[in-house]
Amino acid sequence: TQVVEAPHPLIKHWVSVLRDENTPSSIFRSAMAELGRLLIYEATRNWLPTIIREVQSPVGASMAEFINPKEPILVIPILRAGLALAEHASSVLPCSRTYHLGMSRDEKTLLPSIYLNKLPDKFAEGARILLIDPMLATGGTIVAAIDLLKDRGVDTTQIKVISAISSPPALQKLKTNFPGLQVYTGAVDPILNEKGYIVPGLGDAGDRSFG
Ligand code: PRP
Repeated sequence: TQVVEAPHPLIKHWVSVLRDENTPSSIFRSAMAELGRLLIYEATRNWLPTIIREVQSPVGASMAEFINPKEPILVIPILRAGLALAEHASSVLPCSRTYHLGMSRDEKTLLPSIYLNKLPDKFAEGARILLIDPMLATGGTIVAAIDLLKDRGVDTTQIKVISAISSPPALQKLKTNFPGLQVYTGAVDPILNEKGYIVPGLGDAGDRSFG
């Protein structure tokens, strides 16, 4: 597993806005969406399939490179909080398809459960997948989500995880279980407390996004 803590100042800015407890819900949600846009941009560098065809500009012909519309990026937000981070995926990517996955973590056991699964039974070979969840805390949720993808024929090298803030135990779990996986995150924070919250983190991303 490769972890990329994208060093762009705009990424740092939006992570900082998210951390601030005085950021109101509407701004929190748009900051999360902006962060998602930037992380998706970084993660898809050298990864989007392209085609070349001739176009005619007003002054001449040229060969031109486009994103291949026949190979859409598959975007999988993990509800609820992943919806905010994935908000701009369909505008930053000229062609994409979204499959929703609803998962919630039990407050006491910290174990994830699946309450909505709109994944297809099988993914096309070589499909490129962005799996989007703002918080990788214990890592239980993201590991369960990747297991669902593997059950459907996906290789971990086809998946890029997009997250706002990650904890070292979650990243360690991903490294142990899924060689070849790539994670793009806004920040890696040092502490995971006994309630399963990342510290300093940003609080509860789902509650802060949706009230
Ligand atoms: C939060 C968060 C992740 C998960 C991380 O979701 O958005 O999905 O917990 O925890 P883990 O790494 O320890 O599994 P939550 O279950 O609170 O649902 P929500 O997004 O609907 O608020």
